[in-house]
This record gives sequence, C-alpha cells and structure tokens, in this order.
Amino acid sequence: MAFDIDNYAETSEGVGWEDLDFEIFRTDPLPENTLRSLRYMCDVEYHTVCYLRDLLVTPSHKERDVSAFMTMWNREEFWHGEALAAVLQMHGITVDFDELKASRLKLGWADKLGPLKQSLLGNIVGDDFVAVHMSWGAANEWSAVAAYRRLAALEAHPALSPLLKRIAQQETRHVAFYASQARARLEKSKMAQKLTRLALSKAWEPVGSSISEPAEVKHVMGHLFAGQDGVNEARRIDSNIAKLPGMDGLTIVESALRKRGIDLAA
Ligand SMILES: [Fe+2]
Ligand SMILES: [Fe+2]
Repeated sequence: MAFDIDNYAETSEGVGWEDLDFEIFRTDPLPENTLRSLRYMCDVEYHTVCYLRDLLVTPSHKERDVSAFMTMWNREEFWHGEALAAVLQMHGITVDFDELKASRLKLGWADKLGPLKQSLLGNIVGDDFVAVHMSWGAANEWSAVAAYRRLAALEAHPALSPLLKRIAQQETRHVAFYASQARARLEKSKMAQKLTRLALSKAWEPVGSSISEPAEVKHVMGHLFAGQDGVNEARRIDSNIAKLPGMDGLTIVESALRKRGIDLAA
C-alpha cells in the first residue's frame, strides 16, 4: 500500500507524556541497566539530525516525498529524544547537547569528509542510492520498533511502558514509509537490489554503533535481544528485511548479536 505523505505531514506531532505520572519514578525508579539502555536510545534519537545532515548531500534529498518525509521524521525523532531525556532527568541524569557533541567528536563525527564521502558514493550510484538509503532506513526503523516494544515489555513500568509504546507507534509509521519506498525501488532495479544487499550484509551495524562505544552497543543488544524472547524479536526484524525484494536469506540483526557474543539461547 502506498504511503500517504500528505496525511503523514498533517498528522505528525510530538510524542506526549504530560498525562503520564513521571513522579512515579521517584518512588519506583528504573534499574541501572534500563537507564543505560535509555541513555543510548536518547543519544540515537538526538543524533537523527546528524544522519539527516549527511543525507542532505545525497540524491535522496532531491526526491519530493523523501525530503518531505525526512523533515517530519527528523522532528519526531528529536521529540523521542526529548521524552527519553525527561525520563532520565527524573533519575538525575542530564542529557545535554554539549556532552553529545563531545562524544561525537571523539567518535569521529567531526570528520568533515564524512558528508563528502557520502555525497560521492550517492552520486556514483545515483537513483539506486535512494533504494539503499530507504532499505537501510527500514532496517533501522524495524529495529527501533522492536527495541521500544521489547523494553516496554521487559520493564512493565506504569510510566515508562506507555511512553515507549507511544514512541514505538510513531516508529511503525517510519517503517511504513521506508519499507514502502524500499520495496518499490528494489522491485524496479536489479542493480539496486545488488547494491542494497551488499550494503546491508557488509556494512550494516545496529543503530547507534557509529556514535556509541562498543561496550554500550553490546549492553543494549544484550539487554534487549538476549534470551529466547529477545532472539525471537531480533529474528522478526531479520525476516521483515528478508522480505524486501532481493534480500531473502539476510540475517543482519542475528549476525550482529552473534558478532558481539550475545547469548542467543536458541
Ligand atoms: Fe525514534
Ligand atoms: Fe524512527
């Protein structure tokens, strides 16, 4: 089914949490491992603007629907960051931009060549780049839905879980856009399928890997996807990706778990 970009733009709004009783966190605080995962997720959401910056120099931004979507998408992801920062703040953890900027510098985000390289790559493969970008985005958004749903289930906290479910709901709209775009573009071009398969199998890493320390990536992956229920969720992401044209048999999420020594117990 085609994604209605106009309807999406009209109905896009910040994720609300004013009606949730955040004071509960004072008497029923979240455990350390959950706060650590939330911190990671908050950083990823706040960094969306950097992914957007890099993509604005590629052919993707010339596509009307893609650029319209990405404008609203960027705002929604930022609001997710705000909501998670508010939860962390209730636990005395302040997420501020200067700190994020410092970690970006340390991990190479300040590399001025980054966007340039992306641009060169984008222009070399032209339209097919957009197919890769949309497929990559779909994999990331499927991961986001799974991560938020999984954490909501693991915690079952009266204030956190409803918030995470609301965020996951918005992530499903992001999935709908990226996956429908990816499907349509991959169907049209065998070269796009080949490039996308190559990019996903050789270069895809869990969302946040480029901005976080390896220990943090491992923590989040283990927290959310270890054990039978977690692995089932990870395999669901993989099976969604594998249904995209030309992507059958890919298991990039499970491979990422194995690579980090996460206990799959299955
Ligand atoms: Fe998000
Ligand atoms: Fe998203």
